[in-house]
Amino acid sequence: MGDPETGSGGNGLKRQLVESLVHQKKPLFHSWFQYLLLLCLGIFVIFVYVMSDSSLTWWKSFPLHEHYQMFFNLTNQVNLPPPYRIHPKHRVKLHETTEHPTVPPTGTKYHQAYPRNYHFVMDNTEVCKTKTPFLVLMVPVAPKNVAARDAIRQTWANDTLVQGEVVLTLFMLGFSEGADFEQLQEKLKQENLQHHDLIQSDFMDSYLNLTIKTMVIMDWLATRCNTAAYAMKIDSDMFLNIDNLVIMLQKPDIPKLNYLTGMLMWNRQVVRSKNSKWYVPEEMYPGPIYPTYTLGMGYVFSNDLPGKFVEASKSIKPFNIEDAYIGMCMKKLGLAPTSPPNPSLFKAYNTRYDRCEYSKVITYILGSSQELVKYWTDLKKPGPPCGQ
Ligand SMILES: *[C@@H]1O[C@H](CO)[C@@H](O)[C@H](O)[C@H]1NC(C)=O
Ligand SMILES: *[C@@H]1O[C@H](CO)[C@@H](O)[C@H](O)[C@H]1NC(C)=O
Ligand SMILES: *[C@@H]1O[C@H](CO)[C@@H](O)[C@H](O)[C@H]1NC(C)=O
Repeated sequence: MGDPETGSGGNGLKRQLVESLVHQKKPLFHSWFQYLLLLCLGIFVIFVYVMSDSSLTWWKSFPLHEHYQMFFNLTNQVNLPPPYRIHPKHRVKLHETTEHPTVPPTGTKYHQAYPRNYHFVMDNTEVCKTKTPFLVLMVPVAPKNVAARDAIRQTWANDTLVQGEVVLTLFMLGFSEGADFEQLQEKLKQENLQHHDLIQSDFMDSYLNLTIKTMVIMDWLATRCNTAAYAMKIDSDMFLNIDNLVIMLQKPDIPKLNYLTGMLMWNRQVVRSKNSKWYVPEEMYPGPIYPTYTLGMGYVFSNDLPGKFVEASKSIKPFNIEDAYIGMCMKKLGLAPTSPPNPSLFKAYNTRYDRCEYSKVITYILGSSQELVKYWTDLKKPGPPCGQ
């Protein structure tokens, strides 16, 4: 079924989920009180369900986090049995979300992904003029999510010199919807005055516009930072072992051109069920299978590619699956993603933090910004991370 051969998607993921559910069950049923609590919750859920028109509208009304999205990214073709579809950790996170994706209603107008239809409001055009970065990390983030930005600033973005190489981190934002637009813009301006790391463009920042966000990132890299050697699109809820990434890219056999790597997705089926979050109509993407692409949580590329993606996007119909869209751009260019030197470097989910493990990988998906700060601090404390 085209599971990632890295061992951390597909079956690996399934195993982790089963394990975590087993671990959770013991304490859950230990006391009758918790059982009672669970029962109340169950009744409440049924109540909410009955109150809404159908299970679908109920489902749609949930503000799903990008995490969730990732979970579905990995599972929508894996066909896990229903109890394992929702990771317990993410069930808890439902109300902490800052992104409010919705299922595309039929007949949605999709907007051109070609990024030059949009305009930069903040572009920090000087950052790549004063420095020639080896690597630029581009983080799409919701305008309101200052907590995620601050956590990243004090962890993997804190050092601008990594393994002797200049590394920059920038945050990509669109416009937020809502009445507090003006106030938020003012706050963002102040935040940028302090950190000089916000890039903002005038498209509506929403789940369905993620492809636009990615393409605007590509446009910025191509027009404002073309001296950089490599770049990475990385989600704001990620752990990034930046040293390991730079060490990987410094290897002499890593290509300097036409290079795209990350967690590779092979033979992913296009979702045709209209009720799915992943639904893509045939008018937008006629084929049954996506070209090989790199999972959206974090992919790395040589910096000649952004300009080529921008050109390619002129003639590719936009659809809202941003990572598969980049796969389409690669295909159009006659290129394909490359497996990382070691496939276990790019990982998605892990059930628990392990210092030794985190010292060896490049990516992991995290549950919160607090986790990022906590794990990072622990990883950086003195002493060897593996086996004492
Ligand atoms: C960030 O980097 C500075 C200097 O490079 C260092 O002094 C400081 O301790 C770092 N902060 C964290 C939270 O690691
Ligand atoms: C995407 O962005 C465009 C341009 O700002 C906007 O008109 C449109 O409503 C957005 N679409 C969604 C689904 O948010
Ligand atoms: C899941 O897919 C979407 C759309 O392609 C992408 O934007 C997102 O980054 C992916 N999520 C993860 C965590 O990989």
